[in-house]
Amino acid sequence: MTERVSEIYIGLMSGTSVDGVDAVVADFGAAPLRRLAAAYVPFPTALRNELIGLQRAGEDEIHRAALAANALMDCCAEAVATVLARAQLATKTVAAIGVHGQTVRHRPELAYSVQLANPARLAERTGITVIADFRSRDIAAGGQGAPLVPAFHGVMFGGSRAHRAVVNIGGIANLTDLPPDGTVRGFDTGPGNVLLDAWCERHLGQPFDRDGAWAAGGKLVPRLLAELESDRYFALAPPKSTGRDYFNLQWVEQRLQSAYSAQDVQRTLVALTARTIAAAARAHCADAAEFLVCGGGANNGMLMRELESALAPRSVASTAAYGVPVTEVEALAFAWLAREALAGRAGNLPAATGASGPRVLGAIYPR
Ligand SMILES: Nc1ncnc2c1ncn2[C@@H]1O[C@H](COP(=O)(O)OP(=O)(O)OP(=O)(O)O)[C@@H](O)[C@H]1O
Ligand SMILES: [Mg+2]
Repeated sequence: MTERVSEIYIGLMSGTSVDGVDAVVADFGAAPLRRLAAAYVPFPTALRNELIGLQRAGEDEIHRAALAANALMDCCAEAVATVLARAQLATKTVAAIGVHGQTVRHRPELAYSVQLANPARLAERTGITVIADFRSRDIAAGGQGAPLVPAFHGVMFGGSRAHRAVVNIGGIANLTDLPPDGTVRGFDTGPGNVLLDAWCERHLGQPFDRDGAWAAGGKLVPRLLAELESDRYFALAPPKSTGRDYFNLQWVEQRLQSAYSAQDVQRTLVALTARTIAAAARAHCADAAEFLVCGGGANNGMLMRELESALAPRSVASTAAYGVPVTEVEALAFAWLAREALAGRAGNLPAATGASGPRVLGAIYPR
């Protein structure tokens, strides 16, 4: 029997915000797991623009997608080199890398979801086994292929006597219900940062509204909020997942019946993110008392205040207060998914994705 020499895994996450790659290296042999180092590699502007451009039909997409995947893997290789240097680890000590890739289409209703990646290139660049393509097997089994993180949220933050829920506010927001009886469920609530970022980019030319400062100077437009909240996605029963294919700038623009001030719209979009998360929590995990928030949106003070008031009197805290910095949770989930794949264990949670059963996720590119 061959013994696995190490339980050290790297997770690489580049999510729907299309902002960059979050990387983390962790030792799963320790109990509780030990985070060794983390890094963030923002996308160069040209790559970010191309990855956003590839979300829609366009000219010569196959060629452009291949080149973008290569450039993305180079950012990933840089992130791997950085975490290894920070943790003072040699390549050979790492069992595998779990890489999410960049979603450019998420169409589970048509039985596909596309994550750009070139795992072979990453394996060559790093000399480490790479595991990629985590979503397609779940979709083939009738699932949404998303969200995949609830299983890990359960491992990391579950098992408490308190009824917890984890809210990840990335481009899209997702909620994981962690009742004390261990029956983990999860789903996408709708937009997280994606509309905030798109509106801010359009009107201020900045990729995001730092700390929600621009939004905080605007006035909430109740009529617009009601119109946005009436979208049918919010009323759908879980399991459900969504992406930039649905929630994007056009989605907002189609619902603007009057010439509202851009700043007031931004303010209203903050309320939309917070209120749709809170409404989903009330509808589908009514007994949760403790909310742990992660993802880049947890760094947006305005959004967090709005979420606290929407969820009151339930307690709201950052995952950092529970030992994991907000930008590391999703990357850690992909390190964990890589470990499950190598061990031949199922990584999906049918209660979250709707798949017909547990499945081993990912394709393995050996070092
Ligand atoms: N200081 C800040 N103020 C406001 N917003 C912030 C701040 N820091 C990060 N953000 C928001 O967080 C986003 C990045 O979050 P994150 O990386 O978690 O999202 P993601 O890449 O979509 O990940 P995932 O899909 O895994 O959830 C940025 O695009 C921005 O909107
Ligand atoms: Mg990100």
